[in-house]
Amino acid sequence: MANRRILSLLLLLCAGSLFAQKTSITNIEPRVEALLAKMTLDEKIGQLTQSPGDISTGTDVAKDDLLNQIRAGKLGSILSHTNFQNKITMQRVATRETRLGIPILFGFDVIHGYKTIFPIPLAQAATWEPDLIERIEHIAAEEAAADGQHWTFAPMVDISRDPRWGRMMEGSGEDPYLGSKIAAARVRGFQGKDLAANSTVAACAKHFAAYGFAEGGRDYNTVDMSDQRLRDLILPPFRSAADAGIATFMNAFNTLNGVPASMNKYLVTDILRGEWKWKGMVVSDWNSFGEVIVHGAAADEEESSAKCLGAGSDMDMAGSTFQKGLKKALENGKVTQAQIDEAVRRVLRLKFELGLFDNPFQYLDPQRREATLFKEEYRKTAREAAAKSMVLLKNDGGLLPLNPGGPFNKIALIGPFVDSRSHKDYMSFWSLGIGTPYYDSTKVVTPAMALKPALEALGFQVTVSQVNLQAGNEEVTYKDAIQAAKEADLVIAFVGEHGLDCGESRCVSDLNLPYGQERLLKIATLGGARPAVMVLFNSRPLTFQWANENIESILAAWQPGYETGNALADVLTGKVNPSGRLPVTFPHSVGQVPLYYNALSTGRPQERQGQLWTSGYLDGPATPAYPFGFGLSYTTFSYEAPKLNKTTIKSGETLEVSVTVTNTGKVAGVETVQCYIRDLVADISRPVKELKGFEKITLAPGEKRTVKFNITEADLAYWNAQSVWKADPGKFLVFTGGNSRDVKEVGFELQK
Ligand code: BGC
Repeated sequence: MANRRILSLLLLLCAGSLFAQKTSITNIEPRVEALLAKMTLDEKIGQLTQSPGDISTGTDVAKDDLLNQIRAGKLGSILSHTNFQNKITMQRVATRETRLGIPILFGFDVIHGYKTIFPIPLAQAATWEPDLIERIEHIAAEEAAADGQHWTFAPMVDISRDPRWGRMMEGSGEDPYLGSKIAAARVRGFQGKDLAANSTVAACAKHFAAYGFAEGGRDYNTVDMSDQRLRDLILPPFRSAADAGIATFMNAFNTLNGVPASMNKYLVTDILRGEWKWKGMVVSDWNSFGEVIVHGAAADEEESSAKCLGAGSDMDMAGSTFQKGLKKALENGKVTQAQIDEAVRRVLRLKFELGLFDNPFQYLDPQRREATLFKEEYRKTAREAAAKSMVLLKNDGGLLPLNPGGPFNKIALIGPFVDSRSHKDYMSFWSLGIGTPYYDSTKVVTPAMALKPALEALGFQVTVSQVNLQAGNEEVTYKDAIQAAKEADLVIAFVGEHGLDCGESRCVSDLNLPYGQERLLKIATLGGARPAVMVLFNSRPLTFQWANENIESILAAWQPGYETGNALADVLTGKVNPSGRLPVTFPHSVGQVPLYYNALSTGRPQERQGQLWTSGYLDGPATPAYPFGFGLSYTTFSYEAPKLNKTTIKSGETLEVSVTVTNTGKVAGVETVQCYIRDLVADISRPVKELKGFEKITLAPGEKRTVKFNITEADLAYWNAQSVWKADPGKFLVFTGGNSRDVKEVGFELQK
């Protein structure tokens, strides 16, 4: 008997270590159990409830005074609260004025920096540099934790192929391999080595799952997809985050094959908790348990509570579904006490892991806050990231970089985004809240602020014409800019999207340059006759056919954050040689969407535009304007054909792919060497290319380097028609090159 008790204690402790994220706090499981044993049902439901603080990103939720709710034990967590002093008060009430003293968990959307604003996540992905992204998230975590936040609702790891969807900017683009590497890097950056450290925060993989495939690119819309697509494309970055030890997951708003994600047992219980054996806590999205009723998949809060908790989701964000329905669901036998207890355990465990029970105020130290926020050194990383994320799409005649002694002397910097301080331009609405005074516009370095002096220092004469856009009144607002452009011999036009044009609920049905900006380009460049550079601020792939045909140089700068101007000055003057590569395909027109590189061949692939009876369009190309992985440099690179260590591999063996790259230009440059494969004959049709490796290298002029990639059977496996991960023996191609289109190939075979 005694032995059995020791054995069960050992099992409990062992389970604890399995459950734990990386935390220095010990003895968590017995502490969770002891606390759980003391809790009433109401207190348990309180721990599963999260209320909005002083920022709202969704529908308004009726809420009593937060302090009263905390005092009554009705809240376990608060999201999006900015006021530091209030957080101290709330924590004091939670830990000292409630029966059990359970600390409050504060969550926040730390999406591209907390106080120091970095480029948007999609731009960060364009760096193809997971280590840099890890550093960014570490800084974001340091600032957030110093400001009293314990938990970020990031990373968003949703793969998307639809630029109409406003939230593409929050993810890493269209590719599951790149997305997986970045997902793991972000988790490492946020959570660090110890969740209980006061400089790290718990991360949250969202939105589980397939939110990026909303039909029509319309937010919150229906998603219907095959299991193959789900497994091969959507789930890998989530799996990667889970394997990296992420503390939490978030449900998605959408239905997946008819089942709302929040009550999707297949996703949460079978895959996440079952197949992946992930032990963390799952939070709903903003009132997504309540929206199950609107989806028509539950009659009321009782049924929705039963279905969502029953599917494996734990915490109710910004809704009152559990408060209204969970008790009734228990009374009527729709959920069990054991299910509720399991969810509460997950919440308590996270609070223990974060060290909140040991020191509830460790994230609320005013002095540390003062010393940490907006550190000057953080801006260096922000500048580095912004410059590295910019993608040079076009550079005819080597117009860039702007060197003195060239054909131009007078440069006109024009456009709505040359010196803007409104609408959260150069960043997104996720930069610390909507409508809050939290965003500090004095911290932004606009293009005019940095580029003008940088160009003047090189001897150029520079004018700046900021135009403030009001749609429908373009002729008037552009007048001065056009005049300045006419007097210059080079025009740099800063065009694109406002910061508030991107993000949640900011979907578009037209990807062309907004606000009549194409017209500005046409007039200011005298119909393309005047040499020009277009600097594009974009949160998504936009379409700009006229600029592609008439403007010499195009730089996709994304929404670069606080260091926008400095980073642009670095890139346009050549201090930094551009190295960004597209993490997502740029189409010619919105009608091509979804357009992506890892497509199936179809039975009638098109070889040239206009070829009838093939898969194309009568009125335009089926190919991209700029393919996935693409980006120019101020130098050029040449690739030899890839070489293999063997032409046949068996299970357990490694194929070594070597490719030699030479810098054939006159300046040093950074190249992202990419490796793709194609399964030529499989049990089902497989993509024409799939990214399997990449490496960023720096080469001096004339320098040559051989890069190696290892491919194993696991890299060739896919989710097959029998619902098994498996590689089919047979012929494959391996491709190497500087983007997904311009590659050289060699064949090999997998033998069983
Ligand atoms: C978004 C989530 C976000 C949450 C909290 C929701 O509307 O979909 O991504 O974390 O709001 O702000």
